[in-house]
Amino acid sequence: MNGIDHDASAVRQLIRWRGPAALARASLPLLTRLDPETAHDLGLAGLGLLRPLWRTAAVPAELGVECLGLRFAHRLGLAAGFDKNGDHLDALGVLGFSHIELGTVTPRAQPGNPKPRMFRLRASKALVNRMGFNNAGVDHLVSRLAQSRYRGIRGVSIGKNFDTPIERAENDYVACLHKVYSRADYVAVNVSSPNTARLRELQARDGLDRILGALMEARETLRREHGRRVPLLIKVAPNLDDEQILSIVDALRRWNVDGVIATNTSNDLRAVSSLLPRGLSGGLSGEPLHGLSVAVISRLRAELGSGFPIIGVGGIMTAAAALATLRAGADLLQIYTGFAYRGELLVEEILAALLAAAQGASTV
Ligand SMILES: Cc1cc2nc3c(=O)[nH]c(=O)nc-3n(C[C@H](O)[C@H](O)[C@H](O)COP(=O)(O)O)c2cc1C
Repeated sequence: MNGIDHDASAVRQLIRWRGPAALARASLPLLTRLDPETAHDLGLAGLGLLRPLWRTAAVPAELGVECLGLRFAHRLGLAAGFDKNGDHLDALGVLGFSHIELGTVTPRAQPGNPKPRMFRLRASKALVNRMGFNNAGVDHLVSRLAQSRYRGIRGVSIGKNFDTPIERAENDYVACLHKVYSRADYVAVNVSSPNTARLRELQARDGLDRILGALMEARETLRREHGRRVPLLIKVAPNLDDEQILSIVDALRRWNVDGVIATNTSNDLRAVSSLLPRGLSGGLSGEPLHGLSVAVISRLRAELGSGFPIIGVGGIMTAAAALATLRAGADLLQIYTGFAYRGELLVEEILAALLAAAQGASTV
């Protein structure tokens, strides 16, 4: 067998989910005709039912990566917000992600913004959401993590309650960190959602210093208590000018932050405003976000140098986009909107591309 044949068959055999996967794929076109939030909830419920039948094939060891002091089975994970409460961790776990970022959770449960709050822009392969951190509170998430049998990497994204004044936001982040510490493999500090008033101000120097000062002090206490150092990452917005990026980079270095997740959704809806109810504000995700996200990742990589962990997220709707995000400098990848539109087919496609790239590199 020549090298090319061998590569192709390895890619074909990479991950084969039969039966339940076929059912899931067949139901996707139906789901994507329903109200997006209903479709999301139904899809997760359906996945829960199919889970006992699902066969997750082993991922080739050569896709494994070391990052944040953790061993990831491969580079692709599920982004925050898909499973805010950890209710579906085991079901999502069968789909082959190397890591799943749960949350964003807040100290207290909160309902989020009134519905409708998720909008599907099919022609643009995009979503706009203004969920507003709807979640069942950090205690609920921690109890779900305690029950879960998921063996991949578990990230937890933490935030602040909508009614906690921004001047006291650090108390909410620290309260969440204490509660999730023993159950999380890494913690993502969400200061970039556009749907909680003034949250993004925390990305400025003063805000980051306040949040990171409090979190690093708490993490040091927790590290000693638990004998384990849980990496802390900051998740940033895509709408950052160069000065803002440089000030974030400076804070990442000064506070010895373990990594950065780039990016959250964009609050600039101009490209899609004609497709939305008048006056709607929210966060744009999916294909129109990809260029912005890649630009922020490239800039961060240029400033941070090699070796600083960057998780790239934003508009990865195809394997080609995944590879472009990696080329921009990301170490790990996450998807949300692409997964909502394309289901596990996108996971399979990206893993096949990663394997082809790994094998291509090893034969050069
Ligand atoms: C409906 C929805 C809810 C989201 N909720 C969160 C969240 O709670 N925390 C967070 O950090 N990001 C959240 N995100 C942002 C995603 O994690 C991701 O950063 C963003 O959507 C860009 O990736 P994508 O283009 O692959 O969707 C949410 C995105 C969507 C579409």
